[in-house]
Amino acid sequence: MFVDQFERKFSYLRLSVTDICNFSCSYCLPDGYQCHYQHQPLSLAEMTRLVKGFAANGLSKVRLTGGEPAVRKDLVHLIEATANISGIETIAVTTNGYHLPQHIQDWKNAGLNAINISVDSLDAPLFKTITGHDRLHEVLQGLEMALDLNLKVKINAVLLKGQNHTQLPLFLDFVKKRDIAIRFIELMQTGDNKSYFDRHHLSGNIIKQHLDKQGWKQLPRQVTAGPAVEYIHPNYQGKIGLIMPYSKDFCSSCNRLRVSSQGNLHLCLFASKGHSLRFLLQRDEQQAELISHIESLLYQKEKTHYLQDGYSGSTYNLSMLGG
Ligand code: GTP
Ligand code: 5AD
Ligand code: SF4
Repeated sequence: MFVDQFERKFSYLRLSVTDICNFSCSYCLPDGYQCHYQHQPLSLAEMTRLVKGFAANGLSKVRLTGGEPAVRKDLVHLIEATANISGIETIAVTTNGYHLPQHIQDWKNAGLNAINISVDSLDAPLFKTITGHDRLHEVLQGLEMALDLNLKVKINAVLLKGQNHTQLPLFLDFVKKRDIAIRFIELMQTGDNKSYFDRHHLSGNIIKQHLDKQGWKQLPRQVTAGPAVEYIHPNYQGKIGLIMPYSKDFCSSCNRLRVSSQGNLHLCLFASKGHSLRFLLQRDEQQAELISHIESLLYQKEKTHYLQDGYSGSTYNLSMLGG
């Protein structure tokens, strides 16, 4: 098992398969994706070796992220290859839901277990304002299909002051009869969004207070879980989650590592740089070297991020690394 100097164990890999995204979310890529360099993303063979290396050392969960992962034409093959690796119990995707109805059955057939879909608003005009695309209907259609296919479904909504922060009732209504989790994510400051962050950041405590008042109860956290604190209520089939990266001790339960689409290991979402692993992904025989290289890098993982001090490392936007 990969372990760091603070005895945190890493069983969860977030693998960004492309940094390209076709949406232009106001907090992430307000002017759409801009190409800054020409490097090829990791190939299917390189990604497979990477995940096999992690799995040989205790990894059980992989989340494929972007940019938008569906931009990659071979995503279904990436899902299939990952799902077939011994030791991988959960294979998940985080997506903006673009063309989801066309893809979801194939992804499920390839071995997908879980899907997180970004839905910042359940109001179509506001969804368009935030994401730049009038596609709420399509995204929700894909979501219903994912539920019908028995996938574990979560919704991500970035909490935005002056935009969706008064829409809790709409979201609560949505989880009343659907077995899904809606997670409100506190807006994080990245290299590119400082003035947007200053205008729209809001603490998740505002949602927590509403939930407490309405009788929602906090659930204990699971070992391979993401960073959300989840709440349940007897009158609701679904759950509400809060992702509050600015809260105290957020990083003490960190269980995940990230690899960018260029094959760089990021020890934190807000690390100052990535460490190249690509040169160790060229031959199957390099696996032992790959594992010991990752082990040695892990000693550099810091105890926490420094987001509260306005430091976002080399992360200009979350499309670069998939969040
Ligand atoms: P699951 O709980 O496994 O479903 O994963 P998740 O919630 O981590 O996945 P998702 O890709 O849906 O991410 C939701 C939000 O959590 C995104 O905004 C991520 O940037 C954020 N997030 C995930 N992991 C971390 C982390 O380690 N640190 C910080 N600061 N944010 C994170
Ligand atoms: N702060 C918080 N969440 C963000 N996301 C993208 N950028 C930010 C940010 N600056 C979210 C997306 C997606 C998830 C992977 O990260 O909305 O749901
Ligand atoms: Fe929006 Fe995610 Fe694309 Fe960023 S990467 S623009 S958050 S869909």
